[in-house]
Amino acid sequence: MLILGIESSCDDMAAAVVKDGRYILSNVVSSQDEIHKKYGGIVPELASRRHLETVIPVVEEALNQAKVTLDDIDAIGVTQGPGLVGSILVGLSFAKAICYVKDMSFVGVNHITAHPMAVFLEAGSREQGTGNGNDNIRPPIPDPQYPIFPFIALVVSGGHTTLFKFKDFDNYEILGQTRDDAAGEAFDKVAKLLGLGYPGGAVIDRLAKSGNVSAIEFTRPYISKDTLDFSFSGIKTAVLNYLKETESHGSGVSGQGSGFKSKIENRKSKININDLAASFQEAIVDVLTDKAVSACKANNIDSLVVSGGVACNSRLREKMRIKSKDNSIKIFIPEPGLCSDNGAMIAAAAYHFLKNGIRGGLDMNAIPNME
Ligand code: KG4
Ligand code: ZN
Repeated sequence: MLILGIESSCDDMAAAVVKDGRYILSNVVSSQDEIHKKYGGIVPELASRRHLETVIPVVEEALNQAKVTLDDIDAIGVTQGPGLVGSILVGLSFAKAICYVKDMSFVGVNHITAHPMAVFLEAGSREQGTGNGNDNIRPPIPDPQYPIFPFIALVVSGGHTTLFKFKDFDNYEILGQTRDDAAGEAFDKVAKLLGLGYPGGAVIDRLAKSGNVSAIEFTRPYISKDTLDFSFSGIKTAVLNYLKETESHGSGVSGQGSGFKSKIENRKSKININDLAASFQEAIVDVLTDKAVSACKANNIDSLVVSGGVACNSRLREKMRIKSKDNSIKIFIPEPGLCSDNGAMIAAAAYHFLKNGIRGGLDMNAIPNME
């Protein structure tokens, strides 16, 4: 079954063609970072307007790269929520229009629960896809390459930090979530404080590589050990307080690789940007890894999936692997390109819904606060 996956819930327009929920024939993402970075965050109106311009070229590119036409596509999977209503509506309306004209099935997909479905995609299978689905695609790699239900999934993105227990593709339970900022939001806000641009997660990751994780003692925001909920707004304030305190004592900025021309430089603070990035990142990573392992233990489940944009973080990937191994947990983290927003994960989720007989109707609406 060939599925076209369309994702437009936030600032990326993405489309992918996936065969049988596993083999990626194409995966195209058009980023809007250049548009939003001067505002230090996403401007919803600009995002949806840009989506109107990119939806057709991105879908065409996905079909071209997969060497298929719309006539070869069996069904469309499209993000229904959560996200920005104007953004979601562009992808959803487009998908509905195509399905109406082509008399094709479609299914609405929850963006957050689609993130973990990226583990069922075979990374690198794109190179193998050369035609309309009947070509010589590599056979599936046998388990345990893929997780077996039930598994715990941690979704860490710019808008969400949520722990799920997945019993099946369309059967899950929320075990814990952030009570304030998402982990990616904390990365982005701290990057903004440091004048590192938007989005800032990847920059902090890069700077942290040459920093000392123990240089600054940031408290780990656990809320309490009894809950699997998270809270990351305090750590952003701790960074702000650290900056203010250092400003009143020191002079001069040190650290490398930041291209660091910011408010802080003007304040002539004594800050090692690499140490600050590493210490902040370590605090977030410690909480995420500890809570994910706790969720596995509390539910007596030994498979853990980590996905979402923050799962691109090199230290999080490293520490998740170490702690999982220490606790005899099998860990599954998609390749970075499949952790951040993409159409392939939407197609993967859609495949399993369609196989279970789930279909969308033309009256389907966007659900900005979908859970
Ligand atoms: O899943 P995603 O692409 O979009 C949402 O659904 O939000 O996640 C985007 C988030 C941003 O906050 C970005 O700063 C963060 O993922 N991110 C990272 C890294 N790469 C992206 N955070 C930490 N380290 C990274 N390497
Ligand atoms: Zn996402």
